[in-house]
Amino acid sequence: MAAAAGLVGAAAGCDEEPTVAPAAPGAPPLIPTDWASVRGQFAVNADLAHLSAFVFATHPASVRAAIDRHRAGLDADPIGYLHENEARLDQAVASAAANYLSVQSDRVAFTDSTTMGLGLLYSGLRLARGDEVLTTEHDFYATHETLRLRAERDGVAVKRVRLYADAATASVDEIVGNLSRAVGPRTRVVAITWVHSSTGVRLPVRAIADALRGRDVLLCVDGVHGFGAVDAGPDDLGCDFLVSGCHKWLLGPRGTGLISGTTEAWARFTPIIPAFDGRSIGAWLGFDSGPTPPGPAATPGGYHSFEHRWALAEAFDFHKAIGRDRVATRTTELATALKDGLAGIAGLTLVTPKSPELSAGVVCCTVPNVAVDEAVSRLRGLKVVASSTPYRPSYLRFGTTIVNSEADVEAALKATRTLA
Ligand SMILES: Cc1ncc(COP(=O)(O)O)c(C=O)c1O
Repeated sequence: MAAAAGLVGAAAGCDEEPTVAPAAPGAPPLIPTDWASVRGQFAVNADLAHLSAFVFATHPASVRAAIDRHRAGLDADPIGYLHENEARLDQAVASAAANYLSVQSDRVAFTDSTTMGLGLLYSGLRLARGDEVLTTEHDFYATHETLRLRAERDGVAVKRVRLYADAATASVDEIVGNLSRAVGPRTRVVAITWVHSSTGVRLPVRAIADALRGRDVLLCVDGVHGFGAVDAGPDDLGCDFLVSGCHKWLLGPRGTGLISGTTEAWARFTPIIPAFDGRSIGAWLGFDSGPTPPGPAATPGGYHSFEHRWALAEAFDFHKAIGRDRVATRTTELATALKDGLAGIAGLTLVTPKSPELSAGVVCCTVPNVAVDEAVSRLRGLKVVASSTPYRPSYLRFGTTIVNSEADVEAALKATRTLA
């Protein structure tokens, strides 16, 4: 696999700080152990404190360079570049994703977004009329809407449960207890979200998986706000399917995502969109080249924005060079500093739990007497990029990524103080 240009030596286990060549023309060298160097890989407007890079990614230099390289090749000779490189680059992406997730590469399907992954998954799971999907009140529109459409299409029952009364004081026992009690005899799928973009609560997915063990239920997780922010893969979580976009915390190419499933879970899924895998097309042409493995079979075919899909390899390499664990620790450290500061602002209420066990990088709060959208726009006026949660109730939301510094957190706190 083509390693990300300029990424030399993983951070973990290096005694000496590696000095490396520039990752892309004009970008500073990446020293994975140095957060200023990591931040220097991004082309964000330095006048702003970007506390919303997790909503829609900005790309590090190695990803930008890969996109440019593939785009130039495709522009020069679309079919030639595609035929010459497709098999190799698809495999490179699958290997890099599998390596990051610690799963088998042919158990990963590639999509354009979390929403596409959720839509494919919840449409393709084989369920009988009357089988129940249990989801929660805390999931995003993409999960709720795809399940509503599924119910409308073939009579699958969808039930929602509330997992915690108050996000800030939620506990593992409360969450696991409420979910377990809601699982009924017809429940075949539990559809949850790893980190709630509505509140910042990180679900104890492993404890939920343990509580469901022995029941005939697939645990499916919208992982987008944990993926690239928390140091865990599908095996650590114990889930059957993990669905994520790669253009949020992973800071990967915009318009990319994936579905990772276990072998047993994929056996309960029928693809929705024809794959362009050579084995699938070969079977159609009458050749016997063996079955298409579940990940490639579930990857929607058709031509794609390949320059973005293929640059995913560099996004995974970038995180690997820094270390998935170090990215997670950094995200938590910055989020904790932000939460501590926000909690000290009179009148403001922190919605996200303070405990790192039940939170990740999403930080939500309420500000009295200021509408949330008004708060977001006043913060932007003060050069702080925050967002409003697209839920009811809506909260003011920040997120601490590796694009951020301690100074960004300070800037966010200073600006937020002017709202209270
Ligand atoms: C929990 C959650 N899932 C999914 C999405 C949608 O992600 P994507 O743009 O990758 O479809 C969002 C927000 O955009 C979200 O907050």
